[in-house]
Amino acid sequence: MDIGYLTKLGANAKSRKLFSLFDDEMRSEKYSLSAAGLFLDYAKHNITDDELSGLFTLAKQATLADKISAQFSGEQLNNTEQRSVLHTVLRASDDVKKSVLGEQAQVVIDTEAKMAKIVDDVQSGNVRSVTGEKFTDILAIGIGGSYYGVKVALSALVPYHQPGLKAHVLANVDGDAAQEKFAKLNANTTLVVVISKTFTTQETLLNATIVKQWMLNANSDNNSSKDIISQHWYAVSTNIAAATAFGINADNILPMWDWVGGRFSLWSAVGLPLALVIGNQHFNDLKAGAFAMDQHFQQAPFEQNMPVIMAMLGIWNRNGLGYPSLAILPYNHALRALPGYLQQTDMESNGKSVDNNGNTLNYLTAPVVFGQEGTNGQHAFMQLMHQSADIIPTDFILSLAPTSEHLANHDALVANCFAQSEALMQGKTLAQAEAELRSSGASETEVTRVASHKTMKGNTPSNTLLMQQLDPQSLGAVLALYEHKIFVQGVIWQVNSYDQWGVELGKQLGKEVLNVMAKPMSDIESETLSSSSLALIRRYKNNLVQR
Ligand code: F6P
Repeated sequence: MDIGYLTKLGANAKSRKLFSLFDDEMRSEKYSLSAAGLFLDYAKHNITDDELSGLFTLAKQATLADKISAQFSGEQLNNTEQRSVLHTVLRASDDVKKSVLGEQAQVVIDTEAKMAKIVDDVQSGNVRSVTGEKFTDILAIGIGGSYYGVKVALSALVPYHQPGLKAHVLANVDGDAAQEKFAKLNANTTLVVVISKTFTTQETLLNATIVKQWMLNANSDNNSSKDIISQHWYAVSTNIAAATAFGINADNILPMWDWVGGRFSLWSAVGLPLALVIGNQHFNDLKAGAFAMDQHFQQAPFEQNMPVIMAMLGIWNRNGLGYPSLAILPYNHALRALPGYLQQTDMESNGKSVDNNGNTLNYLTAPVVFGQEGTNGQHAFMQLMHQSADIIPTDFILSLAPTSEHLANHDALVANCFAQSEALMQGKTLAQAEAELRSSGASETEVTRVASHKTMKGNTPSNTLLMQQLDPQSLGAVLALYEHKIFVQGVIWQVNSYDQWGVELGKQLGKEVLNVMAKPMSDIESETLSSSSLALIRRYKNNLVQR
Protein backbone atom coordinates (compact mmCIF):
# COMPACT_ATOMS: atom_id res chain seq x y z
CA MET A 1 0.00 0.00 0.00
CA ASP A 2 1.47 3.33 -0.98
CA ILE A 3 0.22 6.79 -1.97
CA GLY A 4 0.10 5.81 -5.63
CA TYR A 5 -2.03 2.77 -4.80
CA LEU A 6 -4.52 5.09 -3.04
CA THR A 7 -5.19 6.75 -6.37
CA LYS A 8 -6.26 3.40 -7.84
CA LEU A 9 -8.43 2.63 -4.83
CA GLY A 10 -9.94 6.09 -4.97
CA ALA A 11 -10.98 5.71 -8.60
CA ASN A 12 -13.37 3.00 -7.52
CA ALA A 13 -14.68 5.02 -4.59
CA LYS A 14 -15.40 8.06 -6.76
CA SER A 15 -18.00 6.12 -8.69
CA ARG A 16 -19.81 5.31 -5.43
CA LYS A 17 -22.63 7.36 -3.91
CA LEU A 18 -21.32 8.31 -0.46
CA PHE A 19 -24.87 8.25 0.93
CA SER A 20 -25.21 4.57 -0.03
CA LEU A 21 -22.65 3.70 2.64
CA PHE A 22 -25.32 4.51 5.22
CA ASP A 23 -27.12 1.32 4.25
CA ASP A 24 -24.86 0.01 6.99
CA GLU A 25 -26.98 0.96 10.00
CA MET A 26 -23.94 0.80 12.25
CA ARG A 27 -21.93 3.27 10.20
CA SER A 28 -22.52 6.30 12.41
CA GLU A 29 -21.60 4.25 15.46
CA LYS A 30 -18.51 2.76 13.84
CA TYR A 31 -17.26 5.98 12.25
CA SER A 32 -17.17 8.21 15.29
CA LEU A 33 -15.08 8.48 18.46
CA SER A 34 -14.38 10.60 21.50
CA ALA A 35 -11.00 11.78 22.75
CA ALA A 36 -9.70 14.53 25.06
CA GLY A 37 -13.21 15.92 25.51
CA LEU A 38 -13.93 16.08 21.77
CA PHE A 39 -16.29 13.98 19.64
CA LEU A 40 -15.51 13.29 15.98
CA ASP A 41 -18.11 12.06 13.51
CA TYR A 42 -16.29 10.91 10.38
CA ALA A 43 -19.12 8.76 8.97
CA LYS A 44 -19.73 11.22 6.12
CA HIS A 45 -16.53 10.24 4.32
CA ASN A 46 -16.57 8.29 1.10
CA ILE A 47 -14.71 5.30 2.48
CA THR A 48 -15.47 1.68 3.29
CA ASP A 49 -14.21 -0.44 6.18
CA ASP A 50 -11.66 -2.11 3.90
CA GLU A 51 -10.39 1.15 2.44
CA LEU A 52 -10.09 2.65 5.92
CA SER A 53 -8.24 -0.42 7.08
CA GLY A 54 -5.89 0.07 4.11
CA LEU A 55 -5.15 3.59 5.32
CA PHE A 56 -4.12 2.27 8.72
CA THR A 57 -1.87 -0.23 6.96
CA LEU A 58 -0.30 2.66 5.08
CA ALA A 59 0.29 4.44 8.40
CA LYS A 60 1.91 1.34 9.88
CA GLN A 61 4.11 0.88 6.80
CA ALA A 62 5.22 4.49 7.23
CA THR A 63 6.40 3.48 10.76
CA LEU A 64 4.14 6.19 12.15
CA ALA A 65 4.31 4.86 15.70
CA ASP A 66 8.10 5.23 15.69
CA LYS A 67 7.85 8.72 14.22
CA ILE A 68 5.39 9.75 16.96
CA SER A 69 7.80 8.51 19.63
CA ALA A 70 10.67 10.24 17.85
CA GLN A 71 8.83 13.56 17.79
CA PHE A 72 7.85 13.49 21.45
CA SER A 73 11.33 12.44 22.50
CA GLY A 74 13.09 15.24 20.69
CA GLU A 75 14.64 13.65 17.62
CA GLN A 76 15.63 16.22 15.01
CA LEU A 77 12.67 15.66 12.69
CA ASN A 78 13.18 19.13 11.21
CA ASN A 79 16.08 17.77 9.20
CA THR A 80 16.83 20.78 6.99
CA GLU A 81 17.36 23.00 10.03
CA GLN A 82 18.65 20.17 12.26
CA ARG A 83 16.07 20.93 14.91
CA SER A 84 13.83 18.96 17.21
CA VAL A 85 10.09 19.49 17.12
CA LEU A 86 9.08 19.87 20.75
CA HIS A 87 6.12 22.22 21.10
CA THR A 88 4.51 19.22 22.82
CA VAL A 89 6.98 19.29 25.71
CA LEU A 90 5.75 22.79 26.60
CA ARG A 91 2.43 21.38 27.78
CA ALA A 92 3.91 18.35 29.53
CA SER A 93 4.88 18.05 33.21
CA ASP A 94 8.18 19.34 34.55
CA ASP A 95 9.33 15.72 34.90
CA VAL A 96 8.71 15.10 31.22
CA LYS A 97 10.46 18.37 30.41
CA LYS A 98 13.49 17.19 32.37
CA SER A 99 13.52 13.77 30.75
CA VAL A 100 13.24 15.17 27.24
CA LEU A 101 15.18 18.42 27.49
CA GLY A 102 17.82 17.46 30.01
CA GLU A 103 19.57 20.50 31.44
CA GLN A 104 17.66 22.92 29.21
CA ALA A 105 14.48 21.95 31.06
CA GLN A 106 15.24 24.31 33.92
CA VAL A 107 15.48 27.29 31.55
CA VAL A 108 12.06 26.37 30.19
CA ILE A 109 10.58 25.91 33.66
CA ASP A 110 12.08 29.20 34.84
CA THR A 111 10.74 30.99 31.77
CA GLU A 112 7.25 29.67 32.47
CA ALA A 113 7.56 30.86 36.07
CA LYS A 114 8.75 34.28 34.92
CA MET A 115 5.86 34.50 32.45
CA ALA A 116 3.37 33.53 35.15
CA LYS A 117 4.76 36.21 37.46
CA ILE A 118 4.46 38.87 34.77
CA VAL A 119 0.84 37.81 34.29
CA ASP A 120 0.05 37.96 38.01
CA ASP A 121 1.89 41.26 38.48
CA VAL A 122 0.12 42.97 35.59
CA GLN A 123 -3.31 41.59 36.45
CA SER A 124 -2.97 42.53 40.12
CA GLY A 125 -1.49 45.94 39.45
CA ASN A 126 1.80 45.11 41.14
CA VAL A 127 3.40 46.12 37.88
CA ARG A 128 2.03 49.38 36.56
CA SER A 129 2.59 51.82 33.73
CA VAL A 130 5.11 54.63 33.89
CA THR A 131 2.27 56.91 34.98
CA GLY A 132 1.54 54.63 37.93
CA GLU A 133 -1.75 53.41 36.45
CA LYS A 134 -2.80 49.78 35.98
CA PHE A 135 -2.38 48.59 32.42
CA THR A 136 -5.66 48.60 30.51
CA ASP A 137 -4.50 47.20 27.17
CA ILE A 138 -2.02 44.66 25.84
CA LEU A 139 -0.73 45.21 22.30
CA ALA A 140 0.91 42.13 20.77
CA ILE A 141 3.07 42.81 17.71
CA GLY A 142 3.93 39.79 15.57
CA ILE A 143 3.00 37.97 12.38
CA GLY A 144 2.55 34.34 11.22
CA GLY A 145 3.08 31.95 14.11
CA SER A 146 3.88 34.95 16.28
CA TYR A 147 0.34 36.16 15.66
CA TYR A 148 -2.17 33.48 14.62
CA GLY A 149 -2.09 31.37 17.78
CA VAL A 150 -2.61 34.37 20.04
CA LYS A 151 -5.28 35.71 17.71
CA VAL A 152 -7.34 32.51 17.54
CA ALA A 153 -7.17 32.01 21.30
CA LEU A 154 -8.00 35.62 22.18
CA SER A 155 -11.08 35.49 19.94
CA ALA A 156 -12.12 32.07 21.21
CA LEU A 157 -11.80 32.78 24.92
CA VAL A 158 -13.41 36.19 25.37
CA PRO A 159 -15.55 34.94 28.29
CA TYR A 160 -12.30 34.17 30.11
CA HIS A 161 -10.73 37.61 29.68
CA GLN A 162 -10.12 39.51 32.92
CA PRO A 163 -12.33 42.61 33.05
CA GLY A 164 -10.41 45.83 32.65
CA LEU A 165 -7.66 44.35 30.52
CA LYS A 166 -8.07 44.14 26.72
CA ALA A 167 -5.67 42.53 24.24
CA HIS A 168 -5.02 43.63 20.67
CA VAL A 169 -2.89 42.04 17.96
CA LEU A 170 -0.97 43.90 15.26
CA ALA A 171 0.47 41.89 12.36
CA ASN A 172 0.16 43.53 8.95
CA VAL A 173 2.88 45.96 7.91
CA ASP A 174 0.16 48.20 6.41
CA GLY A 175 0.32 51.29 8.62
CA ASP A 176 -3.47 51.34 8.60
CA ALA A 177 -3.43 48.34 10.93
CA ALA A 178 -1.29 50.19 13.46
CA GLN A 179 -3.29 53.39 12.99
CA GLU A 180 -6.42 51.46 13.88
CA LYS A 181 -4.82 50.48 17.21
CA PHE A 182 -3.51 53.98 17.95
CA ALA A 183 -7.03 55.31 17.52
CA LYS A 184 -8.32 53.22 20.38
CA LEU A 185 -5.33 52.79 22.70
CA ASN A 186 -4.07 54.98 25.51
CA ALA A 187 -0.28 54.92 25.25
CA ASN A 188 0.05 55.60 28.95
CA THR A 189 -1.70 52.37 29.94
CA THR A 190 -0.72 50.07 27.08
CA LEU A 191 1.71 47.21 27.57
CA VAL A 192 3.46 46.06 24.39
CA VAL A 193 4.68 42.53 23.67
CA VAL A 194 6.88 42.16 20.60
CA ILE A 195 6.77 38.53 19.46
CA SER A 196 9.30 37.39 16.92
CA LYS A 197 11.24 34.15 17.01
CA THR A 198 14.00 35.61 14.81
CA PHE A 199 13.47 39.28 15.71
CA THR A 200 14.31 40.02 12.06
CA THR A 201 10.84 39.92 10.51
CA GLN A 202 10.39 43.12 8.50
CA GLU A 203 6.72 43.63 9.32
CA THR A 204 7.19 43.14 13.05
CA LEU A 205 10.21 45.43 13.29
CA LEU A 206 8.56 48.20 11.27
CA ASN A 207 5.43 47.94 13.42
CA ALA A 208 7.42 47.85 16.65
CA THR A 209 9.25 50.98 15.51
CA ILE A 210 6.10 53.00 14.81
CA VAL A 211 4.44 51.77 17.99
CA LYS A 212 7.52 52.86 19.95
CA GLN A 213 7.42 56.29 18.30
CA TRP A 214 3.69 56.56 19.00
CA MET A 215 4.19 55.67 22.64
CA LEU A 216 7.12 58.03 23.21
CA ASN A 217 5.34 60.88 21.39
CA ALA A 218 2.28 60.36 23.55
CA ASN A 219 4.37 60.63 26.68
CA SER A 220 2.47 63.19 28.71
CA ASP A 221 4.38 63.36 31.99
CA ASN A 222 7.85 63.84 30.48
CA ASN A 223 8.90 60.42 31.65
CA SER A 224 12.18 59.32 30.17
CA SER A 225 11.99 57.17 27.05
CA LYS A 226 14.06 54.61 28.89
CA ASP A 227 11.49 54.36 31.69
CA ILE A 228 8.62 54.11 29.24
CA ILE A 229 10.24 51.29 27.26
CA SER A 230 11.53 49.47 30.31
CA GLN A 231 8.14 49.51 32.00
CA HIS A 232 5.80 49.06 29.04
CA TRP A 233 7.71 46.82 26.63
CA TYR A 234 8.27 43.07 26.63
CA ALA A 235 9.63 40.75 23.95
CA VAL A 236 9.50 37.03 23.18
CA SER A 237 12.29 35.77 20.93
CA THR A 238 15.18 33.39 20.41
CA ASN A 239 17.22 36.46 19.43
CA ILE A 240 17.82 38.11 22.80
CA ALA A 241 20.59 40.32 21.39
CA ALA A 242 18.34 41.85 18.74
CA ALA A 243 15.51 42.40 21.20
CA THR A 244 17.91 44.10 23.60
CA ALA A 245 19.34 46.21 20.79
CA PHE A 246 15.81 47.35 19.98
CA GLY A 247 15.76 48.83 23.48
CA ILE A 248 13.77 46.30 25.43
CA ASN A 249 14.89 45.72 28.99
CA ALA A 250 16.70 42.38 29.29
CA ASP A 251 14.50 41.51 32.28
CA ASN A 252 11.44 41.86 30.04
CA ILE A 253 12.64 39.52 27.31
CA LEU A 254 11.27 35.98 27.48
CA PRO A 255 13.18 33.36 25.49
CA MET A 256 11.79 30.86 23.05
CA TRP A 257 13.74 28.07 21.47
CA ASP A 258 14.52 26.88 17.96
CA TRP A 259 12.88 23.51 18.73
CA VAL A 260 9.49 25.24 18.80
CA GLY A 261 8.22 26.09 15.32
CA GLY A 262 6.59 29.52 15.09
CA ARG A 263 3.24 28.09 14.00
CA PHE A 264 3.33 25.71 16.97
CA SER A 265 4.48 28.25 19.57
CA LEU A 266 1.31 29.41 21.37
CA TRP A 267 2.24 27.12 24.31
CA SER A 268 5.49 29.04 24.87
CA ALA A 269 5.98 32.61 26.04
CA VAL A 270 4.46 33.54 22.68
CA GLY A 271 1.21 32.99 24.59
CA LEU A 272 2.05 35.87 26.97
CA PRO A 273 -0.51 38.34 25.51
CA LEU A 274 -3.16 35.66 25.88
CA ALA A 275 -2.12 34.68 29.41
CA LEU A 276 -2.08 38.36 30.41
CA VAL A 277 -5.80 38.64 29.69
CA ILE A 278 -7.09 35.17 30.58
CA GLY A 279 -4.77 34.58 33.54
CA ASN A 280 -2.43 31.76 34.42
CA GLN A 281 -5.06 29.23 35.42
CA HIS A 282 -6.91 29.44 32.11
CA PHE A 283 -3.63 29.44 30.17
CA ASN A 284 -2.65 26.28 32.02
CA ASP A 285 -6.07 24.82 31.23
CA LEU A 286 -5.41 25.52 27.53
CA LYS A 287 -2.15 23.59 27.81
CA ALA A 288 -3.89 20.82 29.77
CA GLY A 289 -6.41 20.39 26.96
CA ALA A 290 -3.57 20.07 24.47
CA PHE A 291 -1.76 17.66 26.78
CA ALA A 292 -4.86 15.45 26.98
CA MET A 293 -4.86 15.24 23.17
CA ASP A 294 -1.10 14.52 23.23
CA GLN A 295 -1.70 11.59 25.56
CA HIS A 296 -4.49 10.26 23.38
CA PHE A 297 -2.34 10.65 20.27
CA GLN A 298 0.57 8.79 21.83
CA GLN A 299 -1.48 5.98 23.37
CA ALA A 300 -4.52 5.20 21.23
CA PRO A 301 -4.28 2.51 18.55
CA PHE A 302 -4.49 4.08 15.09
CA GLU A 303 -8.02 2.72 14.58
CA GLN A 304 -9.15 4.70 17.66
CA ASN A 305 -6.79 7.64 17.27
CA MET A 306 -8.52 10.92 16.41
CA PRO A 307 -5.52 12.75 14.87
CA VAL A 308 -4.49 9.65 12.92
CA ILE A 309 -8.03 9.11 11.61
CA MET A 310 -8.41 12.76 10.55
CA ALA A 311 -4.97 12.69 8.95
CA MET A 312 -5.52 9.48 7.01
CA LEU A 313 -8.97 10.56 5.82
CA GLY A 314 -7.35 13.79 4.64
CA ILE A 315 -4.80 11.71 2.70
CA TRP A 316 -7.65 9.60 1.28
CA ASN A 317 -9.49 12.72 0.11
CA ARG A 318 -6.32 14.36 -1.24
CA ASN A 319 -4.42 11.45 -2.80
CA GLY A 320 -7.15 8.81 -3.14
CA LEU A 321 -10.01 10.95 -4.36
CA GLY A 322 -7.91 13.87 -5.66
CA TYR A 323 -9.72 16.68 -3.89
CA PRO A 324 -7.53 19.85 -3.90
CA SER A 325 -9.05 21.81 -1.02
CA LEU A 326 -10.13 21.58 2.59
CA ALA A 327 -12.81 23.85 4.04
CA ILE A 328 -12.56 24.66 7.75
CA LEU A 329 -16.01 25.78 8.87
CA PRO A 330 -16.28 26.55 12.57
CA TYR A 331 -19.98 27.00 13.30
CA ASN A 332 -18.97 29.22 16.17
CA HIS A 333 -18.39 32.96 15.97
CA ALA A 334 -15.72 32.74 18.65
CA LEU A 335 -13.69 30.37 16.44
CA ARG A 336 -13.83 32.69 13.42
CA ALA A 337 -10.01 33.03 13.44
CA LEU A 338 -9.46 29.26 13.29
CA PRO A 339 -9.49 28.93 9.47
CA GLY A 340 -6.75 31.57 9.19
CA TYR A 341 -4.73 29.89 11.93
CA LEU A 342 -5.01 26.52 10.20
CA GLN A 343 -4.07 28.02 6.85
CA GLN A 344 -0.62 28.66 8.28
CA THR A 345 -0.41 25.55 10.46
CA ASP A 346 -1.39 23.24 7.61
CA MET A 347 -0.21 24.91 4.41
CA GLU A 348 3.09 26.25 5.81
CA SER A 349 3.83 22.78 7.22
CA ASN A 350 2.90 20.46 4.36
CA GLY A 351 2.68 22.73 1.29
CA LYS A 352 5.82 21.14 -0.14
CA SER A 353 6.83 18.92 -3.07
CA VAL A 354 10.25 17.61 -2.03
CA ASP A 355 10.65 14.72 0.40
CA ASN A 356 12.96 14.52 3.42
CA ASN A 357 15.76 13.25 1.18
CA GLY A 358 15.37 16.11 -1.28
CA ASN A 359 13.64 14.07 -3.96
CA THR A 360 10.73 15.55 -5.90
CA LEU A 361 7.48 13.89 -4.89
CA ASN A 362 5.32 12.16 -7.47
CA TYR A 363 2.14 12.80 -5.48
CA LEU A 364 0.30 15.82 -4.13
CA THR A 365 0.52 17.03 -0.54
CA ALA A 366 -1.27 19.69 1.50
CA PRO A 367 -4.66 20.85 0.18
CA VAL A 368 -5.60 24.50 -0.12
CA VAL A 369 -7.15 25.32 3.22
CA PHE A 370 -9.82 28.00 3.44
CA GLY A 371 -12.97 28.76 5.39
CA GLN A 372 -14.81 31.13 7.62
CA GLU A 373 -17.30 31.03 10.45
CA GLY A 374 -20.65 29.38 9.84
CA THR A 375 -23.33 30.35 9.04
CA ASN A 376 -21.61 33.20 7.13
CA GLY A 377 -20.01 30.73 4.68
CA GLN A 378 -23.48 29.67 3.56
CA HIS A 379 -23.88 33.14 2.09
CA ALA A 380 -20.43 33.21 0.51
CA PHE A 381 -18.92 30.03 -0.94
CA MET A 382 -21.38 27.22 -0.12
CA GLN A 383 -23.05 27.74 -3.52
CA LEU A 384 -19.83 26.56 -5.15
CA MET A 385 -19.46 23.72 -2.68
CA HIS A 386 -22.94 22.45 -3.54
CA GLN A 387 -23.11 23.01 -7.28
CA SER A 388 -19.63 23.34 -8.80
CA ALA A 389 -17.95 20.22 -10.18
CA ASP A 390 -15.34 20.48 -7.41
CA ILE A 391 -15.81 18.35 -4.32
CA ILE A 392 -14.40 20.11 -1.25
CA PRO A 393 -13.92 18.04 1.91
CA THR A 394 -15.05 19.99 4.94
CA ASP A 395 -14.41 20.10 8.68
CA PHE A 396 -17.41 21.35 10.63
CA ILE A 397 -16.51 22.42 14.16
CA LEU A 398 -19.20 23.10 16.73
CA SER A 399 -19.65 23.49 20.48
CA LEU A 400 -22.81 21.86 21.81
CA ALA A 401 -23.28 24.47 24.53
CA PRO A 402 -23.87 28.01 23.30
CA THR A 403 -21.41 30.77 24.13
CA SER A 404 -24.32 33.20 24.46
CA GLU A 405 -27.71 33.05 26.14
CA HIS A 406 -29.54 33.23 22.81
CA LEU A 407 -30.73 29.62 22.67
CA ALA A 408 -32.96 29.89 19.60
CA ASN A 409 -30.00 31.30 17.68
CA HIS A 410 -27.82 28.45 18.87
CA ASP A 411 -30.43 25.90 17.80
CA ALA A 412 -30.41 27.50 14.34
CA LEU A 413 -26.60 27.50 14.23
CA VAL A 414 -26.44 23.81 15.14
CA ALA A 415 -29.25 22.92 12.72
CA ASN A 416 -27.47 24.72 9.88
CA CYS A 417 -24.20 22.96 10.68
CA PHE A 418 -25.74 19.49 10.63
CA ALA A 419 -27.87 20.34 7.59
CA GLN A 420 -24.91 21.53 5.55
CA SER A 421 -22.94 18.32 6.13
CA GLU A 422 -26.03 16.32 5.14
CA ALA A 423 -26.75 18.44 2.06
CA LEU A 424 -23.12 18.28 0.92
CA MET A 425 -23.26 14.51 1.24
CA GLN A 426 -26.74 13.79 -0.16
CA GLY A 427 -26.98 16.41 -2.88
CA LYS A 428 -30.08 16.48 -5.01
CA THR A 429 -30.67 14.35 -8.12
CA LEU A 430 -32.47 15.53 -11.24
CA ALA A 431 -35.39 13.26 -10.41
CA GLN A 432 -35.64 14.78 -6.94
CA ALA A 433 -35.47 18.30 -8.35
CA GLU A 434 -38.18 17.47 -10.90
CA ALA A 435 -40.41 15.90 -8.26
CA GLU A 436 -39.96 18.93 -6.02
CA LEU A 437 -40.92 21.28 -8.83
CA ARG A 438 -43.96 19.20 -9.74
CA SER A 439 -45.15 19.05 -6.15
CA SER A 440 -44.85 22.83 -6.03
CA GLY A 441 -47.22 23.02 -8.98
CA ALA A 442 -44.71 23.87 -11.70
CA SER A 443 -45.73 23.14 -15.30
CA GLU A 444 -43.83 20.45 -17.22
CA THR A 445 -42.27 23.27 -19.28
CA GLU A 446 -41.05 24.86 -16.05
CA VAL A 447 -39.84 21.51 -14.74
CA THR A 448 -37.85 20.92 -17.93
CA ARG A 449 -36.52 24.46 -17.90
CA VAL A 450 -35.39 24.66 -14.27
CA ALA A 451 -34.88 21.20 -12.79
CA SER A 452 -31.28 20.70 -13.94
CA HIS A 453 -30.30 24.03 -12.40
CA LYS A 454 -31.46 22.74 -9.03
CA THR A 455 -29.44 19.54 -8.98
CA MET A 456 -26.56 19.25 -6.50
CA LYS A 457 -23.66 16.87 -6.80
CA GLY A 458 -23.55 15.71 -3.18
CA ASN A 459 -20.83 13.15 -2.41
CA THR A 460 -18.88 15.73 -0.43
CA PRO A 461 -17.13 14.22 2.59
CA SER A 462 -16.99 15.96 5.94
CA ASN A 463 -15.92 15.64 9.54
CA THR A 464 -18.09 17.05 12.29
CA LEU A 465 -16.02 17.82 15.38
CA LEU A 466 -17.99 18.55 18.54
CA MET A 467 -16.86 19.97 21.85
CA GLN A 468 -19.12 20.22 24.90
CA GLN A 469 -18.37 23.91 25.26
CA LEU A 470 -15.69 26.27 23.97
CA ASP A 471 -13.36 26.71 26.92
CA PRO A 472 -9.56 26.74 27.34
CA GLN A 473 -9.35 22.96 27.63
CA SER A 474 -11.40 22.20 24.52
CA LEU A 475 -9.59 24.87 22.52
CA GLY A 476 -6.25 23.37 23.55
CA ALA A 477 -7.45 19.92 22.50
CA VAL A 478 -8.67 21.19 19.11
CA LEU A 479 -5.40 23.00 18.33
CA ALA A 480 -3.34 19.97 19.38
CA LEU A 481 -5.62 17.70 17.33
CA TYR A 482 -4.81 19.65 14.17
CA GLU A 483 -1.10 19.88 15.05
CA HIS A 484 -0.96 16.09 15.29
CA LYS A 485 -3.11 15.58 12.18
CA ILE A 486 -0.66 17.74 10.23
CA PHE A 487 2.30 15.86 11.73
CA VAL A 488 0.85 12.51 10.64
CA GLN A 489 0.20 13.77 7.11
CA GLY A 490 3.78 15.03 6.92
CA VAL A 491 5.00 11.56 7.91
CA ILE A 492 2.87 9.84 5.26
CA TRP A 493 3.86 12.38 2.61
CA GLN A 494 7.49 12.08 3.81
CA VAL A 495 7.94 15.86 3.91
CA ASN A 496 9.54 18.03 6.57
CA SER A 497 6.54 19.74 8.14
CA TYR A 498 8.70 22.07 10.23
CA ASP A 499 10.71 24.28 7.90
CA GLN A 500 9.33 26.97 5.57
CA TRP A 501 11.89 27.74 2.91
CA GLY A 502 9.07 28.69 0.54
CA VAL A 503 8.69 32.08 2.21
CA GLU A 504 12.30 33.12 1.53
CA LEU A 505 12.13 34.11 -2.15
CA GLY A 506 9.33 36.59 -1.54
CA LYS A 507 11.35 38.15 1.26
CA GLN A 508 14.46 38.39 -0.92
CA LEU A 509 12.60 39.98 -3.82
CA GLY A 510 10.84 42.30 -1.38
CA LYS A 511 14.23 43.67 -0.43
CA GLU A 512 15.18 44.03 -4.13
CA VAL A 513 11.96 45.91 -4.89
CA LEU A 514 12.56 48.26 -1.95
CA ASN A 515 16.12 48.89 -3.16
CA VAL A 516 14.94 49.63 -6.73
CA MET A 517 12.11 51.78 -5.38
CA ALA A 518 14.69 53.92 -3.56
CA LYS A 519 16.49 54.75 -6.81
CA PRO A 520 15.76 57.90 -8.82
CA MET A 521 13.18 57.42 -11.52
CA SER A 522 15.89 57.54 -14.19
CA ASP A 523 17.69 54.57 -12.58
CA ILE A 524 14.73 52.24 -12.12
CA GLU A 525 16.42 49.11 -13.45
CA SER A 526 17.03 45.62 -12.11
CA GLU A 527 18.73 42.41 -13.19
CA THR A 528 16.11 40.30 -11.48
CA LEU A 529 12.78 42.11 -11.74
CA SER A 530 10.56 41.84 -14.83
CA SER A 531 9.53 44.83 -16.92
CA SER A 532 6.07 44.38 -15.41
CA SER A 533 7.35 44.90 -11.87
CA LEU A 534 9.62 47.76 -12.95
CA ALA A 535 6.67 49.48 -14.62
CA LEU A 536 4.64 49.04 -11.46
CA ILE A 537 7.48 50.52 -9.39
CA ARG A 538 7.63 53.54 -11.73
CA ARG A 539 3.88 53.98 -11.43
CA TYR A 540 4.17 53.83 -7.63
CA LYS A 541 7.02 56.36 -7.62
CA ASN A 542 5.01 58.66 -9.87
CA ASN A 543 2.24 58.53 -7.34
CA LEU A 544 4.72 59.30 -4.56
CA VAL A 545 5.81 62.42 -6.46
CA GLN A 546 2.20 63.60 -6.65
CA ARG A 547 1.49 62.67 -2.99
O1 F6P B 1 5.62 32.90 7.63
C1 F6P B 1 7.00 32.76 7.68
C2 F6P B 1 7.45 32.85 9.12
O2 F6P B 1 8.80 32.54 9.21
C3 F6P B 1 6.63 31.93 10.02
O3 F6P B 1 7.08 30.61 10.02
C4 F6P B 1 6.80 32.64 11.34
O4 F6P B 1 5.82 32.22 12.27
C5 F6P B 1 6.60 34.09 10.90
O5 F6P B 1 7.26 34.17 9.63
C6 F6P B 1 7.14 35.13 11.89
O6 F6P B 1 8.49 34.86 12.14
P1 F6P B 1 9.12 35.49 13.49
O7 F6P B 1 8.39 34.87 14.65
O8 F6P B 1 10.56 35.13 13.45
O9 F6P B 1 8.89 36.99 13.45
